Amino acid sequence: MSQPRPLVIAANRLPVTRDADGGWQTSPGGLVRALLPIVQETRGAWVGWTGERDGPGDPIEAEGIELHPIPLSSHEVDHYYEGFSNDTLWPLYHDAIRESGYHSTDWEAYLDVNQRFAVRIANIAPPNAAVWLHDYHLQLVPALLREQRHDVRIGWFNHIPFPPLELFQRIPWRSEIIKGLLGADVLGFQRIQGANNFRAAARTLVGTEDLDDGLLRYDGRDLHVGNYPISIDVTDFELLASGRATRQRTAQIRSRLGDPEVILLGVDRLDYTKGIGSRLRAFGQLLDDGRLDPERHVLVQIATPTREGVEQYQDERREIEQIVGEINGRHSRLGFPAIHYLYQSLPLTELIPLYRAGDVMLVTPFRDGMNLVAKEYVAAHVDGDGVLVLSEFTGAADELKDALLVNPHDERALQDTIVRAVEMHRHERRPRMEAMRTMLEHATVSDWANAFLAQLMAD
Ligand code: F6P
Repeated sequence: MSQPRPLVIAANRLPVTRDADGGWQTSPGGLVRALLPIVQETRGAWVGWTGERDGPGDPIEAEGIELHPIPLSSHEVDHYYEGFSNDTLWPLYHDAIRESGYHSTDWEAYLDVNQRFAVRIANIAPPNAAVWLHDYHLQLVPALLREQRHDVRIGWFNHIPFPPLELFQRIPWRSEIIKGLLGADVLGFQRIQGANNFRAAARTLVGTEDLDDGLLRYDGRDLHVGNYPISIDVTDFELLASGRATRQRTAQIRSRLGDPEVILLGVDRLDYTKGIGSRLRAFGQLLDDGRLDPERHVLVQIATPTREGVEQYQDERREIEQIVGEINGRHSRLGFPAIHYLYQSLPLTELIPLYRAGDVMLVTPFRDGMNLVAKEYVAAHVDGDGVLVLSEFTGAADELKDALLVNPHDERALQDTIVRAVEMHRHERRPRMEAMRTMLEHATVSDWANAFLAQLMAD
């Protein structure tokens, strides 16, 4: 088509957060940077939540586009966000690694908020717009929106895994969710696995018909189901990583850590899916066994605060901090902790020098839709060095095949892989890093957005 459709993005969160002065600051991150220019060029809009309880509902003008906040009451934050999204769906979609709660009060709040998103989008989307919905918070919006607007194309992309049928069917409202998603024209998943899991659930629960070329037929309509692995803004990372300020800060970090031979690094949201505890225990065991030496090997673990209102996250934090305390109690020397643990959110200007200082990056989730930290580490290593230890259960493992892939449930394998990474000779490290960097340069966040949008914009 000659004229691109106006692009409307809807996600749980708006691409801005409140700054100290009460104004709005654009959120960092490749997703926002990749999508904002397209929304600007096509005179589209962005619909989402500000992250505040009882926040504003009036449109906000920022970055030259209209942002449409969906205000959430305190009850809705408790039941739609912390409840159904993050206590029911999140653990279940990550291999049921924690027990999910199934409460009708949470489901009703999820339904209400999805309905409110659909009404708002229906009211503001320009004629013939392409509406791109994001993530597990908004699975009912496709069908709800279709009921109100027949002119728009509707796409949905899941940033997290989509579970196998045996797990998905535990949800008391499983058919409602599938029918909600089937209102879309394009359904996107990180991995082929996720797309296949969705097809199986849809076939079994509501009787969809599988056609060729990733098409699915339901209720007389055909929709496209496919995998679109997300990525990062590689050029941006490379640019920041090559700057003088980064080089200086990297050297300063190494020296602050006591110039150890090897710096091991973990950077994660403090989420129980990320396998932080197992990784720390593996490091502790290696110190206990003398396979690593606290004078030569130091671990830096950055744990970003997240979803602090959810009990399972509070439990996870307590457990991790206890493990750090125990290991440091046994192996630290005065002024030189074995593990440097920061429960903080760091700006990119600090994160990139840390990536560069990290000789070995430990990314060991039990399940992760993609894991962009793994990609950020590779992009930041403009020096062509560094070793990535990567869980097989991340989407990134499909692409970063030259990482040291590991099963994080296998304690012994995790320990052996860490030792292998620490001891790897530069003749092996460099070609592995080079292969990962080449792969990444051909799969950036813009490639991801363009591939999804090409499918969504097509008639
Ligand atoms: O990975 C899924 C996701 O929802 C991301 O989109 C988001 O950045 C992250 O989890 C943190 O989520 P929250 O919005 O709950 O802080």
